[in-house]
Amino acid sequence: MINDKLPKIWYGGDYNPEQWEAPDWAEDERMFKLAGIDVATINVFSWALIQPSEDTYDFSGLDAMMDRLYKNGTYVCLATGTGAHPAWMAHRYPEVTRVDVQGRKRKFGGRHNSNPNSPVYRKYSALLASKLAERYKDHPALVAWHISNEYGGYDYSEQSEAAFRIWLKERYGSLDVLNKAWNTRFWGHTFYDWEEIVVPNELSEEWNGNRTNFQGISLDYRRFMSHSLLECYKLEYAAIKEHSQDVPVTTNLMGFYPELDYFEWAKHMDVISWDNYPSLDTPVSFTAMSHDLMRGLKSGQPFMLMEQTPSQQNWQPYNSLKRPGVMRLWSYQAIARGADTVLFFQLRRSIGACEKYHGAVIEHVGHEHTRVFRECAELGRELEQLGDQLLDARGQAEVGIMFDWENRWALDLSSGPSVALDYVKEVHKYYDALYQQNIEADMIGVEEDLSKYKIVIAPVMYMVKPGFAAKVEAFVKAGGTFVTTYFSGIVNENDLVTVGGYPGELRKLLGIWSEEIDALLPDMSNEVVMNKEWGALSTSYGCGILCDLIHAEGAEVLAEYGSDFYKGMPALTVNSFGEGRAYYVATSPDPAFMQGLMANLCAEQNIKPLVSAPEGIESVQRVKAGVSYLFLLNHTDGELSAEIGGTARTELLSGKKLSGAVTVPARGVLILSDQA
Ligand code: GLA
Repeated sequence: MINDKLPKIWYGGDYNPEQWEAPDWAEDERMFKLAGIDVATINVFSWALIQPSEDTYDFSGLDAMMDRLYKNGTYVCLATGTGAHPAWMAHRYPEVTRVDVQGRKRKFGGRHNSNPNSPVYRKYSALLASKLAERYKDHPALVAWHISNEYGGYDYSEQSEAAFRIWLKERYGSLDVLNKAWNTRFWGHTFYDWEEIVVPNELSEEWNGNRTNFQGISLDYRRFMSHSLLECYKLEYAAIKEHSQDVPVTTNLMGFYPELDYFEWAKHMDVISWDNYPSLDTPVSFTAMSHDLMRGLKSGQPFMLMEQTPSQQNWQPYNSLKRPGVMRLWSYQAIARGADTVLFFQLRRSIGACEKYHGAVIEHVGHEHTRVFRECAELGRELEQLGDQLLDARGQAEVGIMFDWENRWALDLSSGPSVALDYVKEVHKYYDALYQQNIEADMIGVEEDLSKYKIVIAPVMYMVKPGFAAKVEAFVKAGGTFVTTYFSGIVNENDLVTVGGYPGELRKLLGIWSEEIDALLPDMSNEVVMNKEWGALSTSYGCGILCDLIHAEGAEVLAEYGSDFYKGMPALTVNSFGEGRAYYVATSPDPAFMQGLMANLCAEQNIKPLVSAPEGIESVQRVKAGVSYLFLLNHTDGELSAEIGGTARTELLSGKKLSGAVTVPARGVLILSDQA
């Protein structure tokens, strides 16, 4: 449980009462009660109000708000407010603002504009966190600490450049080692003095966001920036823990956000929290995968849904409304996939600046007679009714899909073979193939214990870090099924190619050699032709993006390419290794192939779909104390039926006993407990 002060799914969200006047606060409180809101995240952007000058702190407003909320029955997720530094600080200490990738010195403005390597920023952000923790550690309203806000963005200032050199010295020890790791003899880049090393931005090595002349340098800068921002977080974390040991600490993450290595960050967080902002056309399986990734950061530990909009955003090109029922549906999707909180951005709409058209529980009209408020209040009632039943319930997936940020950075920066290769999309193809068949998968990091899975899939595992190959070999030897794809096993952790034949360190396990890699133009395709019918797979399937030209070296060939000069070369292989099997998918096949492949592998391993349900129904299961809770979520506009088997299950919200074919209303949700 996140905090046993509030043993239910927390309901509420970001609340910025400092942006409006006191008479509205009473109205807010009245409406919180009507909506069943019990948690407010406050102080997210209040640094400038709390610290009006370098030597002055004024907590009176926050003191009063904490007390008011508590009196109203609203608990507080207390933010440290360091996501936007005060204007006076930028004015007095210009070092606190960032330098952007083009080398331009930023002025005061926006948010998330603090230089993570500015000693002044570090000092005052940690000090503020410390003062807040000391002051509010025993406040009865406090249930969680929320450090800063959505850490992200990179800085290229002098301070960061100097800190980068120190970080590099620690990582490599000597310039000799560094020169080798970065392959600096290429284009005459040999460094003889640490001071010669500069940040890789658009004034040096990079252009267009992810194009670089030197992958090694740019990759290390991403590691270093993720580390720098994490250091800021850790300073605040330590400052809080000095005073307040028992209250969980988090910072809000952003799903597949590219710039930070969240698996590294997760090691320093008590509980994961994240902000979920799909748009109208985001595939629901992509949102599902994002939740699963956030749950996977701490090996399945439930997380907090820290933000979602009750209806629309303001920052997308087209800010569509959430259709009636969708906010509730997506909230349960989060719960089904591990969220123990449902929190919104925001509880009341701002009246000015760029978020005034962002959805909120309380809209500009100011009263409760709105569609959005009614839907929020209805969900509030249901979460109250659910109580603590679902808290801490876990998934039991037998398939793990690997995702690794360093691999992503290396792929993004790779300069070839194809701009069409998008790591996240490739991972999603595998996830979606399972999702469409109601088979659960965990999203896992490369450090995860693999022994709890029957199948581990590592799409486009381009970078093989030390120990990885041996770990996967041990997993397969012991009977596991491993699946990887084209463009895997190519480089080490420094993006240096493992010579002697692709897929490098994975070659023995996979029993193949990949001789060449073809990139297909957007209008080109090839075919994966099955050698013989195999379970759900027969005949031929389209494929694209990249085609590895491979030779079997002990692996059995299950399918071949159907055209081009490499027609007849293997496109799908399997290698027996110890007790298990290692599959190589040499290209990026169409969804029909992916679904067939996943169906076959799951059948081999006796992994069964949760239910038999038509497209449009999402099924997820969470288990707690021997009781399983099956969620059926209907993402379509019409009612659908799913087959749940003969044993009666109790639907938690209606109390009805159901079995056999059950009807899930349009955009509706059933939560079916197997307890009588
Ligand atoms: C992010 C931020 C919030 C707010 C929302 C708007 O998630 O954390 O402060 O800006 O976006 O969608």
